[in-house]
Amino acid sequence: MKIKIKNICCIGAGYVGGPTMAVIADNCHNVEINVVDLDRERIDRWNSKDLSRLPVYEPGLAEIIERRRGKNLNFSSSVEEKIKIADAIFISVNTPTKKKGLGAGKASDLKWIEACTRQVAANSEGHTIVIEKSTIPVRTANVIKSILESSEFLNDENSNKTFSVLSNPEFLAEGTAINDLLNPDRILIGGDNYEDIESLKDIYANWVPNHLIISTNVWSSELSKLSANAFLAQRISSINSISALCEKTGADVEEVSLAIGLDTRIGSKFLKAGPGFGGSCFKKDILNVIYLCEYFGLHEVAEFWESVIKLNNWQTNRITKLVTRKLFGTLSNKKISILGFAFKANTNDTRESAAIQICKNLINEGAILLIHDPKVNGEQIALDLNNEEFDINKSEIGSEGTWIKVNDIYDSFVDSDASIILTEWEEYLNINWDKVSNLMRKPAWVFDTRSMIDKKNFDNLDLNLWVVGKG
Ligand code: NAD
Ligand code: UGA
Repeated sequence: MKIKIKNICCIGAGYVGGPTMAVIADNCHNVEINVVDLDRERIDRWNSKDLSRLPVYEPGLAEIIERRRGKNLNFSSSVEEKIKIADAIFISVNTPTKKKGLGAGKASDLKWIEACTRQVAANSEGHTIVIEKSTIPVRTANVIKSILESSEFLNDENSNKTFSVLSNPEFLAEGTAINDLLNPDRILIGGDNYEDIESLKDIYANWVPNHLIISTNVWSSELSKLSANAFLAQRISSINSISALCEKTGADVEEVSLAIGLDTRIGSKFLKAGPGFGGSCFKKDILNVIYLCEYFGLHEVAEFWESVIKLNNWQTNRITKLVTRKLFGTLSNKKISILGFAFKANTNDTRESAAIQICKNLINEGAILLIHDPKVNGEQIALDLNNEEFDINKSEIGSEGTWIKVNDIYDSFVDSDASIILTEWEEYLNINWDKVSNLMRKPAWVFDTRSMIDKKNFDNLDLNLWVVGKG
């Protein structure tokens, strides 16, 4: 029998759980939604009156939280209590690459999936639709099912528990999450319980046109998510490889992107050269594909996808080498302004950001970094650069191989030998380079890894400019 979902519990209040549930709450006022997390500090921040303290920065998110929080959207650390009352449970916990043991460095670590599935098995009541929202290896639905159906939880004679497991991967990109959730290219639901698929479809049908809600078998759904990320990442490695060829030949990568992107079979999106893709998912999901291929003996296929990651590391490292070469082969005690630390614009997320590796490389060469980012705080940068502690009040420039966070863009240029644009924040489009020219030590270099600067604007300035894919 098809049930009407009235109460949803989402386990995991992160970059996916928070925005996704906010958008469902905003479009389904009659559905009660509880987003739960073991991390109490994260929950406190979701409940903060000061909306600038929300743990996730996404354009448009704070407005929805303000509208729905305390009405049909609640954030809580009472995981067990909220599981108990839910008809549908979204599993939205982290699935990073395994650090040790079998499959280390490639396979996904499913310990958080397993832990929260056990919580669901132990605490749910009646029939519960369990929905995989996290990105997971193919056939994880089987793991979830076998835990849910294990005798450990079902032996109780009074137990009236039943479950079905659906796969409903999330395709949002950070920085555009709210728009992606409101206007998805498709909603994918994988499973074999027809009624439960229909119940979940009814939730999305509140704002997504029916023809965009598709259902498949559960394995196709799981594999589609990994494959979509692998294909997207592959496009970036492809254009980044061409960016280097452009620099050698006098071609302009933006012109090449435009020309090839107009071929409708190629398409224009995801063809922007940069410092290498970052973010929490592309690398981990490709590693996951590689692990699956190796497991099934598809070694050539594994090598193909491995090359996408290799090319990405190469692009990131070639930027440090280029900066060092242009600054006469030594960065010792040279000040370098770093513009942007997030892995892309419009997010406070730094996971796998190319900026981390590039900054580490520069620090290793002895440079002194003045780092600016509008949304990433100093504590996060310290964690990423492996500093034990970050003194927020420290404003003095340190010695060789150190860094400070600056809040004003122009402070980062004072006496610096080079500036590197690493994240495409809109405010970097409006930098007054004439003013900058007077602040930097000469000869000075500007390295634009996001292709934001129009070379013509530098013609009359005493600044050297390098732009990715243009030289
Ligand atoms: P995240 O690390 O921001 O959030 C995960 C949250 O789950 C954390 O706050 C953690 O404390 C919580 N958690 C872990 N175990 C728990 C448990 N047993 N009970 C309660 N809470 C628990 O991760 P994210 O970026 O939101 O990603 C979540 C999943 O979605 C991943 O599988 C990821 O691959 C996938 N995904 C992410 C994105 C993205 O853009 N970030 C997009 C699509 C899919
Ligand atoms: C990506 C996918 O785009 C989402 O569809 C997917 O849901 C998500 O991963 C996930 O599974 O986590 P996300 O990592 O948030 O989303 O951001 P993207 O916009 O894909 O950017 C990833 C990286 O590629 C960034 O570092 C970005 O700067 C870089 N990029 C992107 C380029 O260098 N060039 C481009 O043309 C596009």
